[in-house]
Amino acid sequence: LKFVCLANDGIDEHMVWLIGLKNIFARQLPNMPKEYIVRLVMDRSHKSVMVIRRNQVVGGITYRPYVSQKFGEIAFCAITADEQVKGYGTRLMNHLKQHARDVDGLTHFLTYADNNAVGYFIKQDLVAVWRINGSVAMFRQQWMLRTFALRRNSQAESKNVS
Ligand code: ACO
Repeated sequence: LKFVCLANDGIDEHMVWLIGLKNIFARQLPNMPKEYIVRLVMDRSHKSVMVIRRNQVVGGITYRPYVSQKFGEIAFCAITADEQVKGYGTRLMNHLKQHARDVDGLTHFLTYADNNAVGYFIKQDLVAVWRINGSVAMFRQQWMLRTFALRRNSQAESKNVS
């Protein structure tokens, strides 16, 4: 089992993993347009943290670091269906936090979390710090917008986009 963090760098093995991850997102996030998933996963300004087991992708998180503003946007997060609730999502998020802090120099994350996944995000010790209204893309409007501090041992809270 290994964890990798990479962008679309044209290396064959990385492309195979990114396509595997894109397929997991397409299956696990059925409300997301497939073209949109492909576009962001393959976009060079996004990075993906992936869990790889026997050279197969088990799941991952695709995010965009905004380095000068010190925050990252989590675009997609999923674990393949038969491997959920085994702790991979937690380990994945821990790797993301470490990489974001140490490599990208980020201090915060924001994401538009599916209502079903809110419990998962709260358990990852992510803290909502503010809320933003308006100007979210159409297909994201019913999702929840959250921003998270990369800080441990703080109380989690969440707010709806109105
Ligand atoms: N609701 C509430 N709690 C949850 C959920 C959930 N949907 N999923 C996991 N948890 C809890 C687990 O019970 C566990 O709690 P515990 O530590 O007290 O036992 C904790 O969160 C972590 O569980 P893991 O096993 O580490 O999580 P998993 O490997 O299943 O990954 C994930 C979680 C990514 C949400 C996975 O279930 C999944 O892919 N779901 C379908 C896709 C999805 O909803 N993705 C997120 C959409 S939002 C976005 O992409 C920005």
